[in-house]
Amino acid sequence: MQAQLIAAAEAAFEHAYAPYSSFFVGAAALGQSGKIYTGCNVENASYGLTICAERNAIFAAVAAEGPAFRLRAVAVANKACVACSPCGACRQVIYEFGPNASIIFRGAERGYTIAGAGDLLPAGFLLRTAE
Ligand code: THU
Repeated sequence: MQAQLIAAAEAAFEHAYAPYSSFFVGAAALGQSGKIYTGCNVENASYGLTICAERNAIFAAVAAEGPAFRLRAVAVANKACVACSPCGACRQVIYEFGPNASIIFRGAERGYTIAGAGDLLPAGFLLRTAE
């Protein structure tokens, strides 16, 4: 399954829209349903509007499956084959849908590495309101 997720993420970066950074990223999100959803980064001339591949993949999953979507694993790939772990914003979004999800990404060593969502985002935020 890991190899399948990585392959899907690597296919997804071919769709990336990254004329400003030339950094092409793809992500593949595996849901509890067993289905895989992909996303790529989409940049904008107004830089801050850029969205990362990971969030696009997860948001596509929610759009397809609805609010009950739960994330089992997400793989992140980039065309440059350099180290690239999810940014802080994406870690928070990953944590929302899969606090125990596995994250597969290119780490400092060559090749892919795997870490838990809670390891990459210790004490991640979950909204709890007073009863
Ligand atoms: N980017 C992602 O899509 N995912 C990551 O994990 C890291 C960064 C994108 C955002 C931007 O389009 C480009 O990579 C350079 O930061």
